[in-house]
Amino acid sequence: MPSLRTQIAGFSFDNCLMNAAGVACMTVEELEEVRQSAAGSFVTKTATLEARAGNPEPRYRDVPLGSINSMGLPNQGIDYYLDYLLSLQESQPERTFFLSLVGMSPDETHTLLKKVQNSGFKGITELNLSCPNVPGKPQIAYDFETTERILGEAFGYFDKPLGIKLPPYFDIVHFDQAAEVFNRHPLKFVNCVNSIGNGMYIEDESVVIRPKNGFGGIGGEYIKPTALANVHAFYQRLNPSIQIIGTGGVYTGRDAFEHILCGASMVQIGTALHQQGVEVFERVSLGLKAIMAKKGYEKLEDFKGKLKYLG
Ligand code: SIN
Repeated sequence: MPSLRTQIAGFSFDNCLMNAAGVACMTVEELEEVRQSAAGSFVTKTATLEARAGNPEPRYRDVPLGSINSMGLPNQGIDYYLDYLLSLQESQPERTFFLSLVGMSPDETHTLLKKVQNSGFKGITELNLSCPNVPGKPQIAYDFETTERILGEAFGYFDKPLGIKLPPYFDIVHFDQAAEVFNRHPLKFVNCVNSIGNGMYIEDESVVIRPKNGFGGIGGEYIKPTALANVHAFYQRLNPSIQIIGTGGVYTGRDAFEHILCGASMVQIGTALHQQGVEVFERVSLGLKAIMAKKGYEKLEDFKGKLKYLG
């Protein structure tokens, strides 16, 4: 039977599939559902210092080829997620989970990271540099100078496993420039990609979400080609010590297979999880194992990053 076992930052996971931050991770009840599913881990909703209500509703819509959202980082505040993760460390020390966070300013981001650094948290931290939905706050990772400064300052005091959630990039020069920044820091992973920011979906004559007059992050089938390109571009460019988490357009075993072929060590499911519930992890796992069995692959390393080119 093929194995979906993987490692991130030296931690082992029985299954390479997990939720994407933002989906099924706002409350302990949702996180418990993911924890008890076939997923190998979970990531919490991106936390800010204080709880946030987020943007006005309707702020998420399933649409024919995926989803559009402008949630605006609603979350319960860092202490809620940290307390839960610390309690899980006691009850299930053999498993590792991810904590997602970002501040409303660089100073707040450092306050959050210092809180994690000074806590007993032994898991993996994901710094979200890519939320497109907070009015007036640009996606941080599109600004390479700010990204460089935040990472440089953070690694002055933060020595726990840290990775970053990235927005999609669309230009080869930007892949090069971004990789140059990331390679200067002891990151454990980059997660490619967050939603494609500021898209629009129209029904009849109207947008379908209220915030920002309808502009929102696009997920689902629309974004798989962009996600795969980002996974592979960074797989080609980053130091081998920086692993890739692939996120975007995963509904089937074939989608997960393609992310791993492009270089992903772990694969996150967002829109499909929102639409189908946690059973999606079992379905995608079975599909991925069936493809591996057919091709004679026993483990992810047998095909990870081994994308073939035409001549
Ligand atoms: C949101 O809360 O607006 C979505 C989170 C994200 O895109 O990072």
